[in-house]
Amino acid sequence: MNGIYPGSFDPPTKGHMDIIERSAALCDHLYIAVLINISKKSLFTIPERVELLKKCTADIENVEIITFDGLLVDLFKEYAIDAIIKGLRAVSDYEYEIQMAQINRQFEKRAETLFMMTNPRYSYLSSSIVKEFHRYGADISPYVPLPVLQAMKEKKE
Ligand code: PNS
Repeated sequence: MNGIYPGSFDPPTKGHMDIIERSAALCDHLYIAVLINISKKSLFTIPERVELLKKCTADIENVEIITFDGLLVDLFKEYAIDAIIKGLRAVSDYEYEIQMAQINRQFEKRAETLFMMTNPRYSYLSSSIVKEFHRYGADISPYVPLPVLQAMKEKKE
């Protein structure tokens, strides 16, 4: 099975890494797709996020980082995708995700979405929260992989 795990990854967190490691173990090949969204204010550029994800997944052989700026379903044919992988943290994620999963299937019949429950350790975690705490000097080392921690420190200096 070829899986695709889409997101903004600004920055990748340990919550993302949990889903990446567990879904890579289930997939033959896992694409991590970084969404190019120029309207969204970001901390890291797209090439920086790709580089960070490469570093964070260096030990996982069947993972490949790609970028996209259209519709996720348009990647299905290009990359022979079988399933979209999504992490669910809490009930609050559910409403948005069910909407996306259903509309995606309207446009691409084969577009199945597989949901994985986030490790409860990271159920409250998001890239926005990590950025907010980091901005005010909090220690975010428990929440992000080491390469991300280093890059965030450099951004602040
Ligand atoms: O990390 P994020 O920002 O929560 O990820 C959101 C993402 C990239 C998964 C979502 O915005 C997405 O799939 N966008 C791609 C555009 C698309 O296919 N839209 C149709 C479904 S609404």
